Amino acid sequence: MSGPAAAHDPRTAARLTERLAELATISTPGPGVSRLAFGPLERAAHERVAGWGSKDGARVEVDAAGNTVMVYAEGEPYLLIGSHLDSVPAGGRYDGAAGVVAALEVARAVAPELGLGLRVVAFSAEEGARFGRPCLGSELATGASPDGLLDVLRDTDGRTAIEVARESGLDPTGCVAWAAEPAVAAFVELHIEQGRVLEREGVRLGVVDVVAGATRLAVELTGRPEHSGTTPMDGRLDALTAMAEVVLAVEATGRATRHGVATVGHLEVVPNSATTVPGAVRAVVDVRDIDAGRQATAVADVRAAIAAIAAARGIGATIAVLADRPPVMLSAWARRALAEACTARGLPFRVLPSGAGHDAAVLALTAPAAILFVPTPQGRSHSPDEQCDVVDLAVACEVMALALRRLDATARGLAAEET
Ligand code: HGY
Ligand code: MN
Ligand code: MN
Repeated sequence: MSGPAAAHDPRTAARLTERLAELATISTPGPGVSRLAFGPLERAAHERVAGWGSKDGARVEVDAAGNTVMVYAEGEPYLLIGSHLDSVPAGGRYDGAAGVVAALEVARAVAPELGLGLRVVAFSAEEGARFGRPCLGSELATGASPDGLLDVLRDTDGRTAIEVARESGLDPTGCVAWAAEPAVAAFVELHIEQGRVLEREGVRLGVVDVVAGATRLAVELTGRPEHSGTTPMDGRLDALTAMAEVVLAVEATGRATRHGVATVGHLEVVPNSATTVPGAVRAVVDVRDIDAGRQATAVADVRAAIAAIAAARGIGATIAVLADRPPVMLSAWARRALAEACTARGLPFRVLPSGAGHDAAVLALTAPAAILFVPTPQGRSHSPDEQCDVVDLAVACEVMALALRRLDATARGLAAEET
């Protein structure tokens, strides 16, 4: 997997394409890829990847949270690379999976050259789509999962995260934290950008400096269910029209912040019947920003809007915090290794924030962590038409391999040789 600047190994590109296509078949039927957190399909994808790792001679460990680790070079401290294999409903085939299959390519190429150990990880339950809170697997791996949390997070079927995980043979509460310094010298994640910055600027590599913070609120509005034909318009306690006002207030809050975003992507109407005035509505609000102060202000504005709308309409309102993570600045040391690797290969790159959350932002709290982005055409992600140029992935593998050599050298106190 070596070669002139900007070169890539066509065999790597071919294997990446083949494996991503194979992983994309591990999905519930329907548009895109649906492989939800802690479910049997996520397990099946982990097993497929573990099989590829074993074939490379890696030793495979799966922790109680379902994080799959493939040891390509024994010993501690070790460099850790990888991403996640779960998806959002009707998502794309590259989000997460691209970083895992690329990590296998990189590990196979550089493991023999490193002085440090080298492990590839597929974290479980990275997507917050199912239970409202993202990065459950990497939180458990780093010891950052609040006690009792998995017993209260529920999916739309009302099943708790712990119930779903146990049905898949996992026991997350038994997970002993392992992903931290000094054992982990650094964690590097390759991921699709899921935005349009790289594409717009014609740059094919991104080095992330800050990962946006995310606050997730579970909002429930309670009115009065009654017959839609016999109940006069005046005096109704319609939970859905109240929530409609809340949804627009969330959008207005997102628009009012400069870099922030605010979204309601999930809505449940109860009883969701055409001839009943909605008695209750549940929604998840997703507020994100790369500035902690702006994020907190936006969340406060959303809370105030919900309270005012509910009061004006005589509707009950409860708000539960599913997640509240501030923005995370990634390791300057690990970022520099990625930047120097791009430069050593003669490849332009762009330093940029990530609006999407990533396991690297969780690992960054216990070990140096960095993210290498490749472009996402039209920025389309979390949808069946998510795209990624496999040549970008193959070139990024070259860059990541070089960055690992540099991290290995500097972590062992050696001057990073120019290569
Ligand atoms: O939703 C996100 O930020 C990411 O896809 N986990
Ligand atoms: Mn995602
Ligand atoms: Mn992802």
